[in-house]
Amino acid sequence: METLVLKRVKNLIHQMTLEEKINYLGGTGFIEGEKIGETQPLQHLGIPSVKMTDATSGSKLTKDHILFPAFICLASTFNPELSASYGQAVAEQAKADGFRVLLGPGVNMYRVPHCGRNFEYLGEDPYLACKMLVPYIKSVQNSGVIATVKHFVANNSEHYRKNSNSCVKERTLHEIYFPAFKAAIQDAGVKAVMTSYNMLNGEWAGQNKHLITDILRNEWGFDGMVMTDWWSIYDTEKAITSGLDLEMPSASILGYKRIKALLDNEIISESWIDQRLINILKPLCETGLLDQEHQDTSLRNNWSNHAHIAVETARQGIVLLKNQDNILPIKPESTKRVALIGENAVITTASGGGAGGFDPGDKLVTYLDAIKKIASNNAIEVSYYEIPDLEIKNVDIAFVFLTMVEHEFMDRPFTLSDEQYELIRHTTSLNSNTVVVLSVGSGLEIASWINEVKGLLFAWYPGTYGAQALAEIIFGKINPAGKLPFTIEHTENETHYYGNYLPENTDLQREFQGWNRGAPNFDIHYREGIFTGYRWYDIKKIKSLFPFGFGLSYTTFKLDRLVLSSEVITGDETLTICLDVTNTGNIDGAETVQLYIQDIESSENRPQKELKGFKRISLKASETKQIEMTIDKKDLSFWSEVTRNWHIENGSFNVLIGTSAADIVLRASFVYFEK
Ligand code: BGC
Repeated sequence: METLVLKRVKNLIHQMTLEEKINYLGGTGFIEGEKIGETQPLQHLGIPSVKMTDATSGSKLTKDHILFPAFICLASTFNPELSASYGQAVAEQAKADGFRVLLGPGVNMYRVPHCGRNFEYLGEDPYLACKMLVPYIKSVQNSGVIATVKHFVANNSEHYRKNSNSCVKERTLHEIYFPAFKAAIQDAGVKAVMTSYNMLNGEWAGQNKHLITDILRNEWGFDGMVMTDWWSIYDTEKAITSGLDLEMPSASILGYKRIKALLDNEIISESWIDQRLINILKPLCETGLLDQEHQDTSLRNNWSNHAHIAVETARQGIVLLKNQDNILPIKPESTKRVALIGENAVITTASGGGAGGFDPGDKLVTYLDAIKKIASNNAIEVSYYEIPDLEIKNVDIAFVFLTMVEHEFMDRPFTLSDEQYELIRHTTSLNSNTVVVLSVGSGLEIASWINEVKGLLFAWYPGTYGAQALAEIIFGKINPAGKLPFTIEHTENETHYYGNYLPENTDLQREFQGWNRGAPNFDIHYREGIFTGYRWYDIKKIKSLFPFGFGLSYTTFKLDRLVLSSEVITGDETLTICLDVTNTGNIDGAETVQLYIQDIESSENRPQKELKGFKRISLKASETKQIEMTIDKKDLSFWSEVTRNWHIENGSFNVLIGTSAADIVLRASFVYFEK
């Protein structure tokens, strides 16, 4: 039966002239720094223009916005409830200034550490990404703001992004690159999807019928709006017949004359245009945007709550990767002086760049500000050095602050710059108590210097207030519990992407041709298939430098007493997995228990294990809690090359429980039968 919303939308479309209909297929344009995108207004029909804002780490265009820690920091909290709060806060920031479409979340998978946008995404594992993005989208949309899941799909590097063709097999798409989009649609009810800049298997994503009609609409049942990424389609007939609805930031390929010609030649019909309009207007109408004032300034009263959520995200997301001799937390009784070295301590890079890059404004708390504040309460002297100085010999701990420029439409090297290597080398030669603090959104080359330093923290891009969380962690006010949402390699040549990333003989930065439409397209072959990240290290039987899911605490945990509810499950039954987690140290802390499933005798080539559950749990010193996780038949399925569809596996499985993908401590087996 037709819903009231659909009736109303159809009625509105019925009242539009053909010209109005066609013009509605494009936004009203882009003005740098002022306007990212807006739908067309049709005042006489009571249809207002709807304003959009980029949203990776806050609401970009909202005046006086709060910049949240990077999205990848949210992923490293492994905390879906926090993701819901983060989403609500970002939506309220947007709505306070009348932006009712968020151009986010970005959910492309982490494939190569070079990708200039990894900081905007949720890491390498599709299961983790799905569990984090669903609550985010639900709370954004429950706050009356439309979420746009992006960039659909296989836009996993930025270098030559407008000149590249991602060559990805169907199974790899279904198992690695699609799940986040599918969950956004089917589990979170996302109302908008943005296509990507790249080609997928020979066709631009924004005019790719297989992606938009076959997969999004027919297979996943998506009935919201599909918009392009900004200026990313090239062929009018292909774009409009692919099922695309909205060209952003304005109609050029879907411009009036071009569409009218297709209508006149009967290549498309007016009802095809009407369907595009239904797809755009239905989400707007459902969200109340045809009826209510878009701006709610009273939400500015929630700014301090948003600041709290921002700091909490950094507290839970900062990852401690090394802590030799328990150098951290700082012990006030034995610490008199600490040195902060490197510009990033004082000109703290709060965010990556591009659409996901935000200006934190003058409210930015730098690392120096935040550390000084806590140090002064403990009578500890803090000095800043742009480059190491002989004085560093005399301090108790030397912190080296490093960042890298990460940005859309460019990738960055895996290695640090020569100056940064020198900063580490020089500091460690003066003081062996060196701790490195990285503000980045991806992995990088660490193996060559990790043995020289005693501590290593991934602080991500902290946003306006996240530096406070770093200071709290280094002084032990907060016990770190963030977990890496990707694997960090020793060297590039041990990885799945080695030889599968750039065309030969290109140079990352220098030969950048992101906007050069005249340049030839090149293929990026995803030869590793489904074996990315930890899946790759498992099948190659090699160790990474830091595994997916890894992160230290100032306390220790024990996992034991693993019990499965049954040895056999059938059909729709759920298997319940219980275990005890104990904080075996003498300070409070949190651990994220991870559940991986191993298909013991698969009918097809499977990863050794895959994440299918996780639980972040806080425990007081010496406390034990029992936790429960569940799995069912959908966790046991994979996309089969043979049946070219999802296949539910019957047979024997192992449940592997650990504190990272490489630290499995408990195992048990069970059997599943479909009937
Ligand atoms: C980015 C999108 C963004 C859009 C609008 C593009 O360059 O790829 O993620 O939403 O610009 O700012």
